[in-house]
Amino acid sequence: MATAGKVIKCKAAVAWEPNKPLIMEEIEVAPPEAHEIRIKIIATGVCHTDLYHLFEGKHKDGFPAVLGHEGAGIVESVGPGVTRFKPGDKVIPLFISQCRECRFCKHPQTNLCEKSWSSERYDIMSTTTSRFTCRGQKILQFMGTSTFSEYTVLNEISVAKIHDSAPLDKVCLLGCGIATGYGAAVNTAKVQPGSTCAVFGLGAVGLAAVMGCKAAGASRIIAVDVNKDKFPKAKVFGATDFVNPKDHDKPISQVLAEMTNGGVDFSLECVGNTSVMRSALESCVKGWGVSVLVGWTDMDDFSARPIQLIAGRTWKGSFFGGFNKDGVPKLVDDYMAKKLKLDEFITHNMMLNQVNDAIDLMKTGKCIRSVLHVSKV
Ligand SMILES: NC(=O)c1ccc[n+]([C@@H]2O[C@H](COP(=O)([O-])OP(=O)(O)OC[C@H]3O[C@@H](n4cnc5c(N)ncnc54)[C@H](O)[C@@H]3O)[C@@H](O)[C@H]2O)c1
Ligand SMILES: [Zn+2]
Ligand SMILES: [Zn+2]
Repeated sequence: MATAGKVIKCKAAVAWEPNKPLIMEEIEVAPPEAHEIRIKIIATGVCHTDLYHLFEGKHKDGFPAVLGHEGAGIVESVGPGVTRFKPGDKVIPLFISQCRECRFCKHPQTNLCEKSWSSERYDIMSTTTSRFTCRGQKILQFMGTSTFSEYTVLNEISVAKIHDSAPLDKVCLLGCGIATGYGAAVNTAKVQPGSTCAVFGLGAVGLAAVMGCKAAGASRIIAVDVNKDKFPKAKVFGATDFVNPKDHDKPISQVLAEMTNGGVDFSLECVGNTSVMRSALESCVKGWGVSVLVGWTDMDDFSARPIQLIAGRTWKGSFFGGFNKDGVPKLVDDYMAKKLKLDEFITHNMMLNQVNDAIDLMKTGKCIRSVLHVSKV
């Protein structure tokens, strides 16, 4: 490739400061260093975690940054020591890592890795080193990925190589939201055949959780959202009952308990709100109910009465649906074999320079996923 070994100047959407629109800028992307890969991003989804950083987390050390962590692209060049990837490979950059050597990678019960961005300073939601500069300033790589850019650089331990004919403007969604929600149901909650489930929050993450509950054989899936416009989509993914907390005066946990003879077997919180997390826990049946935190927030403490857990409920959390890097190409294959839905999540297709419109659509609850088309293949 003509660009290998050289700095690439390209377009990216830069978040210079919290609460402000992203600005399209020309940035410089340095060549990949040892064990790194430079990727041409073809398409990227917009996930609520991008909005969380911009509008909710707003960490003062977390800017300027290039957001975006749900992308897919093509390897442009590789750094020294990279043997498993070559220019032209189709890949999904990931906000998780799998070095295969650390004690977390070697432990079968987690997909965490000591070498991921979150092991450095998780609070700024970015790697502390970056290959990006703009106007002479270092620009952070959000969640180690930065897919709102025509080019990005990742360590090979955070890149999944996928099927050569995978449509990148669809499978990009497996870089975060869909893998997360689906895996939270099948891997973390371990939803059982014949069970009753409740999913709180019906964005792409929650809808993917509904899809996971259905794939695991749940017989009843209660979809909960304060936006009733989300219910028809939830039905497409397998929800059987629909509850809008705004339609009820009593706590939602009580409504669900009355519907299910004491509570659901599994609940999944896909909103990122600590009071909803508590409701989701309290909506589980005592004795064996399992509640999973999927929504992302690190702003507030949560609380619950200890008796909730003493009575036999389990409260757990899910990071990227419990999938490791090796799980992602398999999800791509499942989509291509029509075993997993992806197209149904995409409500809008836009160009990268329309990223602020995509952010507004999510803020106002008018989309499930917007896919931004970043570069031509
Ligand atoms: N754990 C992880 O690894 C991980 C990965 C990706 C995303 N996330 C998080 O998952 C959450 C969902 O992401 P998304 O992209 O689907 O977001 P989204 O904004 O598209 O969807 C959130 C949904 O929650 C609904 N909602 C808001 N308040 C509610 C309430 N009180 N009760 C019920 N529903 C309510 C909204 O109407 C909306 O439909 C976010 O917090 C995101 O940061 C976590
Ligand atoms: Zn995400
Ligand atoms: Zn590791």
